[in-house]
Amino acid sequence: MIIAVDGPAASGKGTIARALARHYGLPHLDTGLLYRAVALTVMRNELDPEKEADAVASCDFPDSLLDDPALRGDEAGKAASIVSAHPLVRAALLQRQRRFAQQPGGAVLDGRDIGTVIAPEADAKLFVKATPMIRARRRHEELKRGGSTVTYDRVLADIRARDARDSSRSAAPLVQAPDAMLLDTSFLSIEAAVQKAIALVDARIASNADVER
Ligand code: C5P
Repeated sequence: MIIAVDGPAASGKGTIARALARHYGLPHLDTGLLYRAVALTVMRNELDPEKEADAVASCDFPDSLLDDPALRGDEAGKAASIVSAHPLVRAALLQRQRRFAQQPGGAVLDGRDIGTVIAPEADAKLFVKATPMIRARRRHEELKRGGSTVTYDRVLADIRARDARDSSRSAAPLVQAPDAMLLDTSFLSIEAAVQKAIALVDARIASNADVER
């Protein structure tokens, strides 16, 4: 069973994808980490994320980089949204994601284009969203807990800029797949959002089985 979870930054998609993977006993891939690893490689080699050739040259990073805590930082996230707009970067990371999705037994992947490009054949697709203000508040709290002094207004501006870049790029923009189920987490606790996600996936799997019968 393949479960695709897409949505904008800080919508809750990562938490939901991890919980779904645990619930259904499936392996999970946070595909944002791949773009963040490319971005971090670009930054560490003092290359330019806006230049497609510089970003492509950084796609061949070692697997060990995926455990680097620096990937989780806001700088890496911002640069990731720049490198991810280059079609050749997306092409370089495509097979790795497809292989993960198509492994025997299935998988849960979260990102921006899982239901549309990486695994259009997924058995269940969720599109997770929340208002920009609520996502900024969540991200701001998280950054403050990590010791950052960044302001809420700065975080909100970054979220809006990232949304605009992710949604307007021509290569695999952030859009809801026509067959994706919408989950708005704006006014849900984490536990409630996870329960809703499981209920939606269960319902989709049951209706897929009905169609096959
Ligand atoms: O999800 P996360 O915030 O870690 O992703 C970082 C950036 O990587 C996103 O802003 C987006 O531009 C890019 N990304 C993408 N496609 C994916 C996952 C992430 O373009 N499947």
